[in-house]
Amino acid sequence: MLRRVYLDNSATTQVAPEVLEAMMPFLTENFGNPSSIHHFGQIARSAVDKARHQVAEILNARPNEIIFTSGGTESNNLAIRGLIQELIRKEPDVRPHIITSVIEHPAVKMVCEDLEKSGCDVTFLPCHEDGVVRFEDVVAAMTDRTVLISIMTANNEIGTLQPVAEIGTFVRSLRNDGRKIYFHTDAVQAIGKIKVDVEEIGCDLLSLSAHKIHAPKGVGALFVRRGTRLHPQNIGGKQERGIRGGTDAVPQIVGLGKAAEMAGEKMHEDAERLRQMRDRFETAVFEMIPDTHLNGSRDRRVPNISNISFGSVEGEGLLINLDMQGIAVSTGSACSSGSLEPSPIIRALGREDQLARGAIRFSFGRYNGDEDVEHTLAILPRAVETLRSLAPPKR
Ligand SMILES: Cc1ncc(COP(=O)(O)O)c(C=O)c1O
Repeated sequence: MLRRVYLDNSATTQVAPEVLEAMMPFLTENFGNPSSIHHFGQIARSAVDKARHQVAEILNARPNEIIFTSGGTESNNLAIRGLIQELIRKEPDVRPHIITSVIEHPAVKMVCEDLEKSGCDVTFLPCHEDGVVRFEDVVAAMTDRTVLISIMTANNEIGTLQPVAEIGTFVRSLRNDGRKIYFHTDAVQAIGKIKVDVEEIGCDLLSLSAHKIHAPKGVGALFVRRGTRLHPQNIGGKQERGIRGGTDAVPQIVGLGKAAEMAGEKMHEDAERLRQMRDRFETAVFEMIPDTHLNGSRDRRVPNISNISFGSVEGEGLLINLDMQGIAVSTGSACSSGSLEPSPIIRALGREDQLARGAIRFSFGRYNGDEDVEHTLAILPRAVETLRSLAPPKR
């Protein structure tokens, strides 16, 4: 039987057995609606409250600053749209200005593009060739109408860490001077990999997603600092303090709570193990395969992502070849109108098209072991060689 190795943990992760165990009673006998006053409802209510504490704890936030959502995408939409709509409602004559970056996940980038179409000004900052947005560029982009800065904590394709604490300190100092300005960060890829503390970062809004930390898909959370007002995007219920109406997804929320607790407990151990595994893999790849290039900073990144461009190889072809041999990885490129577009993130690093198209993301997770690295290293060099010999793409 084909041996399968999963190296796509930044796309999604396996649900931890402990998480599934915590969820099971809420998929079976404890099926109540937390908004119900009776016994069944109260069991569900206390489970949601517990999860809220668990999520708040890993972020160093207060439980009443956590809003449960359907995932990272919704958290980003609620944070950005919710804030801008609330500001416009209060001051309809002001044209808000948002600062974000070209390396944000589409759930931030596309929301900002959409707001741009409906009358906001948006500055999309570039990143340098190390995959890091510069704090100085954020400061330089400020105008007297800037109301929101949204910069991710860790990039999803190359894992690079952004200067969020510097931005947070800057925004706080402006607010202390009486400016109305807020800072949102998409921390979906950072939770469980590095310490994420809303006080250290100094953000007002922070998005996270459960399925990247060994909990199920379809649930996430948004940290909303006390005093930050958002216009609700889901109207029709009083749940989540009226900011996000809709019956709470109790089993998923319980799963997220448990996964957050485990991420807090296991982070140091997981991160160190992942870093060693990733670095050993990367060193071997660079030794064994010529014309290979690391995308993004080597040092300033989460411990589980390695994004490598293989010269004279189409990433998509390599992904399919590896998948046929049981190894699951990803590319950032998307097929649009029949042609393979290189990943905008890799392009933003200044890579030429051919190398950008040859980028593969290997992302390690809690359930990977050394044997997965060995197995991949036994297959990858030959796969690259085969593709290079079959159809060397034009430079
Ligand atoms: C950085 C980042 N933000 C947001 C998301 C979207 O999260 P979700 O899949 O929970 O909607 C992802 C998922 O890939 C991500 O990597």
